[in-house]
Amino acid sequence: MANIKIPKGWEIPENRITPESVYINRRKFIKDLGIVGAGALSLFGSSACAENKGVAKQLEAYQKEKLSAVKNENFTVTRPETKEIVAATYNNFYEFTSSKSTVWKRVERFKTRPWEIEITGHVEKPMTVDVDDLIKQMPLEERIYRFRCVETWAMVVPWVGFPMKALLEKVQPKSSAKYVRMETFFDPDVASHQNDARLPWPYVEGLTLAEAMNELTLMVVGIYGHILPPQHGAPLRLIAPWKYGFKSIKSITSIELTDKKPRNFWNVILPREYGFEANVNPKVPHPRWSQASEWMIGSMERYPTKIYNGYGEYVAHLY
Ligand code: MTE
Repeated sequence: MANIKIPKGWEIPENRITPESVYINRRKFIKDLGIVGAGALSLFGSSACAENKGVAKQLEAYQKEKLSAVKNENFTVTRPETKEIVAATYNNFYEFTSSKSTVWKRVERFKTRPWEIEITGHVEKPMTVDVDDLIKQMPLEERIYRFRCVETWAMVVPWVGFPMKALLEKVQPKSSAKYVRMETFFDPDVASHQNDARLPWPYVEGLTLAEAMNELTLMVVGIYGHILPPQHGAPLRLIAPWKYGFKSIKSITSIELTDKKPRNFWNVILPREYGFEANVNPKVPHPRWSQASEWMIGSMERYPTKIYNGYGEYVAHLY
């Protein structure tokens, strides 16, 4: 997404449906994002050594905060695991920056504890819970998932979390609940990109209730055996591994069960490029690039993209 550039053919329709000032500003933002695409690769360049030392130091603090979780052997993969330092320095977290390799630095002032999560809407038992209380209440497990970004990069990491189903069962969805709408924090003093009023902050994502209740859908509180560092969306994020990565919203503050389909962040910005469903599919190209193959961050190895990112046995029946 960082190298977004609207193709000529689409400029006219968007111009027609959007007020001109919003449209012009949005295009400028999208152009600004384009500049940083190349910067994302700097980690592999000559400054890599100093950068690695800085990240390693940052990660050390989080590595001490271990989480005890049962390894779920059903969720493992044959590809080599992505190195922690690689995953922690190639991030999308647009609240802070659109430069992937610098997110870990930009999150320095982001306080992820204490942190409350509100669960409301069409539920019998709405609740507000502190993330650490939630972690104590939930059965934590470790799952190694393939993760696929819509930009065609991929990684394999061990997440620590609990099924979203277990959380939703606590609040008891009403029969009128059809969707789950999730929202990220809003704090422009800390997350400087949130000062950009041209964008529909806070970041919002959604799932159908059936998707949210699926066995694969994980509420994640940790990675590589310890609590999440901020760049991965601490203290609580979603992981829906059969969908493109933008669905996996970070740093969740509220979960609302609704009867209407929520508009998700990227769908509001670029509706022709990013939909609500966003299931990984090699046969449906992004309007500006092919989705037929993917490359692993760190190794650059290429693999053919799998339908539903290889998780069809769990989710194909939903579609
Ligand atoms: N959540 C929020 N709040 N803000 C974001 O910018 N980016 C999404 C997703 N969740 C994003 C977000 C995208 S595009 C991807 S690919 C993944 O987070 C990246 O997760 P990672 O940085 O942990 O690899």
